[in-house]
Amino acid sequence: MRLRRRPAHPSGAELVRLTDDDRRYMTSKFDTSVPLPPGAEAQLRADNPRLRELREAYAALDLPALRPSRWHAAAVDRFLELPWFRGETLITWHDRELPRVTRLRYFVLLRHVAARDDLGLLPRLAEDGAFGCWTFEYPGEPRVSRDLLESVLELNYVERALGVSGREAFRVLDVGAGYGRLAHRAVGAFDNLADYCCVDAIPESTFLAEWYLRHRGVCPPARVVPLHRLDDELRPGDFDLAVNVHSFSECTYEAVAWWGRWLADLRVPRLLVVPNHGPDLLTHEVDHGERDFLPALEAAGYRRVRHEPVVDDPAVAELVIMGDDWYHLFELEG
Ligand SMILES: C[S@@+](CC[C@H](N)C(=O)[O-])C[C@H]1O[C@@H](n2cnc3c(N)ncnc32)[C@H](O)[C@@H]1O
Repeated sequence: MRLRRRPAHPSGAELVRLTDDDRRYMTSKFDTSVPLPPGAEAQLRADNPRLRELREAYAALDLPALRPSRWHAAAVDRFLELPWFRGETLITWHDRELPRVTRLRYFVLLRHVAARDDLGLLPRLAEDGAFGCWTFEYPGEPRVSRDLLESVLELNYVERALGVSGREAFRVLDVGAGYGRLAHRAVGAFDNLADYCCVDAIPESTFLAEWYLRHRGVCPPARVVPLHRLDDELRPGDFDLAVNVHSFSECTYEAVAWWGRWLADLRVPRLLVVPNHGPDLLTHEVDHGERDFLPALEAAGYRRVRHEPVVDDPAVAELVIMGDDWYHLFELEG
């Protein structure tokens, strides 16, 4: 009998039929299934007096770090919904796509992270999905998010590279700390964390970090120092490590050079940088051009001693959201 060849798929039909849930997911910036905690909506507003105060104080400064590039006022207005700051915003990109695809990609990432979690953080650091965070659940696994998985990888990297957990104490300075993602996770991860200080040049980020870290009950050892208070509150020798995750890539060269000199003046002996997209250390200039910022850090006295992909399995790196990211570890010379 001759088999009639059937077309692989009825011509013209969608290969993937989208449900209403799929469409909702792909067009939503944040997940509202976890309600905001009491008081959050009333406080996380553009007219909050603390945010106004920070905006005015930052606007009165004349610092190279304040030259707007990716983070200009219109972008912040358009793409940083204050109450839902852990959804997709200027602070954290989520890469929305078909939910089944995202779920699979996060499962691959979860397994990758779990296999490298020497500190055993995944079962200890919980994800509650608060403030619009996209989360993923699988049978027998803890609920995860980009915030959690990225932080677990970073904290294990810091441990592998610097062996911090065995020290009596260690102190971190986070430049461009966003809403305090890594500060919150680091406090949960290390009992010997004596200080985790967040600084930023964007008042909305400072405001959110102050609010979030207080809400999570992690201050101290976490704290936030506003840009106009840096000279009053920070002293040379106060920190063992500075971190900069996806932040220098969103600044101008001039801003990175200023931060580099400032870190060197504070005698911060080590600096961990994670740039955006790929192994190169590139800025975001006012005209949207890019500039290699390695010379700016070298001129400040920072020598790169290690650089390696965040996701060390190339097959996994192709599939997951942080697959393009690299760690760059610097030491201060002299
Ligand atoms: C993509 S977010 C990353 C936040 C955080 N490091 C994280 O990984 O969750 C970029 C951060 O850089 C900060 N930023 C933007 N321009 C800056 C500048 N000129 N100096 C310092 N930080 C800046 C933003 O406020 C924001 O906190």
